[in-house]
Amino acid sequence: MRILVTGGAGFIGSHIVDRYIAEGHEVVVVDNLSSGKAEQVNPQAKLYVMDICDPALAQVLETEKIECVNHQAAQANVRRSVADPVADGEINIIGSLNLLHHAIRCGVKHCIFASTGGAIYGEQETFPAEETHPLNPVSPYGVAKLAVEKYLFCFQQIHGISYTALRYANVYGPRQDPHGEAGVVAIFTERLLRNEPPVINGDGEQTRDYVYIDDVVEANVLALRHTLSGAFNVGTGIETSVNTLYRRLKALIPTPVEAVHGPPKEGEQRRSLLSSRRLQAQTGWAPRISLEEGLAKTVAYFRQQHA
Ligand SMILES: NC(=O)c1ccc[n+]([C@@H]2O[C@H](COP(=O)([O-])OP(=O)(O)OC[C@H]3O[C@@H](n4cnc5c(N)ncnc54)[C@H](O)[C@@H]3O)[C@@H](O)[C@H]2O)c1
Repeated sequence: MRILVTGGAGFIGSHIVDRYIAEGHEVVVVDNLSSGKAEQVNPQAKLYVMDICDPALAQVLETEKIECVNHQAAQANVRRSVADPVADGEINIIGSLNLLHHAIRCGVKHCIFASTGGAIYGEQETFPAEETHPLNPVSPYGVAKLAVEKYLFCFQQIHGISYTALRYANVYGPRQDPHGEAGVVAIFTERLLRNEPPVINGDGEQTRDYVYIDDVVEANVLALRHTLSGAFNVGTGIETSVNTLYRRLKALIPTPVEAVHGPPKEGEQRRSLLSSRRLQAQTGWAPRISLEEGLAKTVAYFRQQHA
């Protein structure tokens, strides 16, 4: 199949591109390289350095005869969305709308969308959250993801384009940016390898559901293979505190430095935990990589980057 992967130079997108190519698909990447890296794009994919807000996206879809869109490109920083909701909305809502509008006009049949399980439910009322949990995002980033899910539903009704919204938990693994504000596993690993103390925000007892990149890529493969319809959580159903995560990384990286605690981040959710029963029931997907194994693989990757 001919697939357009937006954000294919980024952390998650570049792994999806590698796997789709390995599965025999023809892949085109659109990425403006704002946080992604051209060298991460599989050489067998065709890269267009282009913004998803650019109307010229229509030509790419048409020239490349795209049949399916996998939309990973985003302003993916929750805190930045709070600081500048307009800029976030321009990329995450208007950019997505530009992409979907042209994709529909060019006859694209299916869209896979990188949504968020960590931010779309807001402060959770039940644990773990199923897809039916109330959607009360408390960040502009979460609101934008919800808006795109609603557009996808609406366009399915009007135009018949099918869609899968994959609501990722906290994804970690090789290629995650260790210098950003999000991606605690990459940030802590990088600092420990440099013998610099990681900073734990607040008391460190806030929890997240950490899912390894390979399991997320597998969900993207299954979404394509089964043409899944609707929203699906992609998480492990296991809750881990930042303190526990830090201790596990410290056990893998021998260093005398100790973490320091900083002030809590305003508006940060206390707990996040997802149930992926729906995805499991429809595709047989299950998280295969334990946190222990995933952290070991991630540390090995960052060690190699340092060498
Ligand atoms: N990492 C996580 O834990 C997580 C969790 C939930 C959802 N997501 C979503 O998954 C997707 C991928 O996230 P990631 O962690 O790989 O982030 P990333 O920043 O590594 O990747 C995003 C990619 O999109 C590109 N991009 C950004 N704005 C663009 C624009 N206007 N036009 C074209 N390209 C643009 C960037 O250059 C980058 O390559 C995002 O949609 C994100 O919101 C990520």
